[in-house]
Amino acid sequence: MNILILGSGGREHSLAWATLQNPKCDKLIVAPGNAGIAQIAECARLNIEDPGAVTEFAGENAIDLVIIGPEAPLAAGVADRLRESGILVFGPSAAAAQLESSKKFTKEICDAADAPQASWVAFNGPSGAHHYIEAVGAPIVVKADGLAAGKGVVVAMDEETAKAAVDEMFGGAFGEAGAEIVIEDFMQGEEASFFVLVDGETCLPIGTAQDHKRIGEGDTGPNTGGMGAYSPAPVMTDEVTQKALEEIVRPTMAEMARRGMPYQGVLYVGLMIENGQPRLVEYNVRFGDPECQVLMLRLGAQALDLMHACADGRLAEAQVTWAEDHAMTVVLAAEGYPGDYAKGTEIRGLDALPEDSFHMMFHAGTKAEGGKVLANGGRVLNATARGATLQEARDRAYRLVDAVDWPEGVHRRDIGWRALG
Ligand code: GLY
Repeated sequence: MNILILGSGGREHSLAWATLQNPKCDKLIVAPGNAGIAQIAECARLNIEDPGAVTEFAGENAIDLVIIGPEAPLAAGVADRLRESGILVFGPSAAAAQLESSKKFTKEICDAADAPQASWVAFNGPSGAHHYIEAVGAPIVVKADGLAAGKGVVVAMDEETAKAAVDEMFGGAFGEAGAEIVIEDFMQGEEASFFVLVDGETCLPIGTAQDHKRIGEGDTGPNTGGMGAYSPAPVMTDEVTQKALEEIVRPTMAEMARRGMPYQGVLYVGLMIENGQPRLVEYNVRFGDPECQVLMLRLGAQALDLMHACADGRLAEAQVTWAEDHAMTVVLAAEGYPGDYAKGTEIRGLDALPEDSFHMMFHAGTKAEGGKVLANGGRVLNATARGATLQEARDRAYRLVDAVDWPEGVHRRDIGWRALG
């Protein structure tokens, strides 16, 4: 099978790595890729948000399956165009991708599906939103309706912060994404991520994880795309997982199908769990980054079979083989991230690292130049490891971190604190 993966982050490096573990992969191209991906697969220059360009490229390269990593190509309709051309694709249609690209759409679908979530109101101007905040009080959550690169959600602990977020969103900070906003109740509890493959009909859970969104240890400082993750998430007991599947995921997917927008791809279910009861925080229509890295290390070669079955509508026949293992990834970021940071600093020591089914240094924002690996983004490397226990996975992941020679890099030392105490 010839496979094309779209994307350039640590998520896509881990997808490429897992794909290559499977002998069914004859050829792998990643567009655009990064320095780490280039060491294991062919990388191609391609505008991955252009449905016509991607479809033409897939046709020219006799691609059998396209795996779409990030949300932007999905929202742009890349999966739709590929399907129209008869090419198998792992990723939802633009209509179904509204589960991530419109918060209001998701809230309405979930209300119709009776899926437990925070109560909410949508606004298309600041004055109504301000009055609502004054009436309800803080803490309260303000969300830009559209895609805002992970920055469009403000959990405000006081009214002033909530009103400032409203003004920022309507002031154009997120462009069109902030033309409408959703304000919802603050939910107490513990957050976890649940990943489910859906082929339009069948829902197949493939794992759970917990992310660390803040830049600083002890979950302090500004939000990031994620500074580390581990899988499985202890709070996702069998009972909570079953409740999330039966009360949230299946009803939402049935409602999507009923509305003529069957969902096909991975559904990233962001949950808040309080007293054993899960409620939906958000859906994303892709794997999380860095959650994907820990899932791929745990799933290995079967990840390709599962994604293929999902794209092909065969999930009812598919099975996940669970190992009693744990995985952790620690993100190495450029100093200054998520604010301003330098690009082009050299990273040394990568060649000497172990890379096997227990250890992988996945690359995110890197590029190769003159035989060197240079930092080329905010989140740069993902030290990822697997073990029989979370402690073993953690020890291995931090040994990878400590073996990297990159003075301009920063990372958190407390990934996994919630699970490990
Ligand atoms: N790690 C959070 C996300 O991928 O959205």
